[in-house]
Amino acid sequence: MSEFRASTLTKYPIINHKYDCVVVGAGGAGLRAAFGLVSQGFNTACITKLFPTRSHTVAAQGGINASLSNYEDDCWLWHQYDTVKGSDWLGDQNAIHYMTKNAPKAVLELENMGMPFSRFKNGKIYQRAFGGQSLKYGAGGQAHRTCAAADSTGHYMLHALYGEAVRHNCKFFVEYFVLDLLIEDDGCRGVLAWNLEDGTMHRFFARNTVIATGGYERAYFSCTAAHTSTGDGTAMVSRAGFPLQDLEFIQFHPTGIYGVGVLITEGARGEGGFIINANGERFMEKYAPNLKDLASRDVVSRSITLEIMEGRGCGPEKDHVHLQLHHLPKEHILKQLPGIKQTSHDFAGVDITREPIPIIPTVHYTMGGIPTNYKGQVLTQVEPGKDKLVKGLYACGEVASVSVHGANRLGANSLLETVVFGRAVADTIAQETCPGATVKVSEALGEFALENFDKLRTSNGKISVGTLRLKLQKVMQKYAAVFRTQNVLEEGCTQVSELYCELDDLKITDRGLIWNTDLLEALELQNLFINAIQSIYAMEQRKESRGAHARDDYKIRVDEFDYSKPIRKQKIRPLDEHWRKHTLSWMDVETGEVCFTFRPVQDCTLDEDECPSIPPKLRTY
Ligand code: FUM
Repeated sequence: MSEFRASTLTKYPIINHKYDCVVVGAGGAGLRAAFGLVSQGFNTACITKLFPTRSHTVAAQGGINASLSNYEDDCWLWHQYDTVKGSDWLGDQNAIHYMTKNAPKAVLELENMGMPFSRFKNGKIYQRAFGGQSLKYGAGGQAHRTCAAADSTGHYMLHALYGEAVRHNCKFFVEYFVLDLLIEDDGCRGVLAWNLEDGTMHRFFARNTVIATGGYERAYFSCTAAHTSTGDGTAMVSRAGFPLQDLEFIQFHPTGIYGVGVLITEGARGEGGFIINANGERFMEKYAPNLKDLASRDVVSRSITLEIMEGRGCGPEKDHVHLQLHHLPKEHILKQLPGIKQTSHDFAGVDITREPIPIIPTVHYTMGGIPTNYKGQVLTQVEPGKDKLVKGLYACGEVASVSVHGANRLGANSLLETVVFGRAVADTIAQETCPGATVKVSEALGEFALENFDKLRTSNGKISVGTLRLKLQKVMQKYAAVFRTQNVLEEGCTQVSELYCELDDLKITDRGLIWNTDLLEALELQNLFINAIQSIYAMEQRKESRGAHARDDYKIRVDEFDYSKPIRKQKIRPLDEHWRKHTLSWMDVETGEVCFTFRPVQDCTLDEDECPSIPPKLRTY
């Protein structure tokens, strides 16, 4: 460690550190990357704004997908097929291939770390049914592919990973808030972080920086995610001048508790629960005759919304529906869904062994993020059609857009993504660099971030962080909802942009540096805005419906081909004539302006013989 005084901002003494690698975030992806690096000899700092076991991974309930065949015959190729279909053919097929093929290994690795999975009577890991999971390339009925630890899989997984990180002597910097990336010559040289506990500033110089900071669900008023899910990593990448990918795709989980947004796992339907409207009808039979309540999340969320819009909602305001479990044996509920029983009691006041749970689709996951390849290397674009790696920068977990989820994520592919790509990042770094490699840095690195920090800390405007955040969340909830139209989105864009200007009028009441939560939340709010603006503008520009992006005015998915006609006779359309392409958004954080370029969706080029690409077709469940 050495002390350094920044040239322009002498009021913030900076402590410098040098590491081979810096991992930002200590959820599933961050922890798996961190001990993967340490185990390969890299001197690694894991920097996290939360104590690791408080990371949002802890809230994951239903499970982690892998074709273990513990319930019925299964195959990773069928998991791959379901994931490509679930993504509405926007997922990159190399990445999906890599994730689904490595899934069984990843789950067995967790088992070997001591993760206490639920078990079948024969001692094998318990696997339940989950949304969008089928057998034999969609032809063979519902798969039981989701490996579960009752209904607290994320909790058990995060603790197993943290135990493993401790076993590897990972070096943690806990309750450090990363302000920004240190970027020089188009490459990343580490991060600048603020130690919340004692108010000191730290520059962590490193040849390799891994971002694993999760999503930005808190841009919405009602979501299942932690208050800390504020898109810090994606915002840093935008501020560094690199693009984000596919931010228009926001997942609404069908079963958030009405009024509070707390998650009721899809596993509740996997165990035999079903959704009913005010007339007591199991309406999913109408919208998804095959998989019904276990169709993919975008389909179930839209169906619920339609039932409510058409007047068949429950309650005095007809504004929610019911999830019924009380037809299931009580012992089964107590064994497989104990957390749901408690949560429903605490947040909805219902006993699920006797009454239904009032539910409504609630924001749950952000499919877009930092574009990476399947090795976790961050991508930028030098000109349309030409990708380039950002030197020294990696991303994994929800913050990344690998893209395994494309336009819609399947339940239980998220925990899987964290461990598969956390490990992939560590392996890539080990292949590309050696422990001890030096990195050149200039003295002024981090100045811009410190200036922003100082300006915010001393801001003396008229609006509080809480007030402005609520305004943003309400606009997103109203104008960037399950169903979207041009007029509504245009109005939403205008309103979010106007609110962005109000950031200059913030009032911070605490001027201190130690555990200044007012300032911390202001920094998080800046990050939320950077994500929200790009999301809603991306929704406005995508003129089609695909996965979770449902446009009432452009109801059809627009691909390279018209799938109602013989494909053989058609010419492939150029990129600018169809929407099977990734949106790259570039934001000028000074002005709030956003512009877009595009990347083609990647077809499968790995193991071509074993696994050709899965060509798009119409998506039904
Ligand atoms: O419903 C759930 O248990 C959530 C799982 C997921 O988002 O992967």
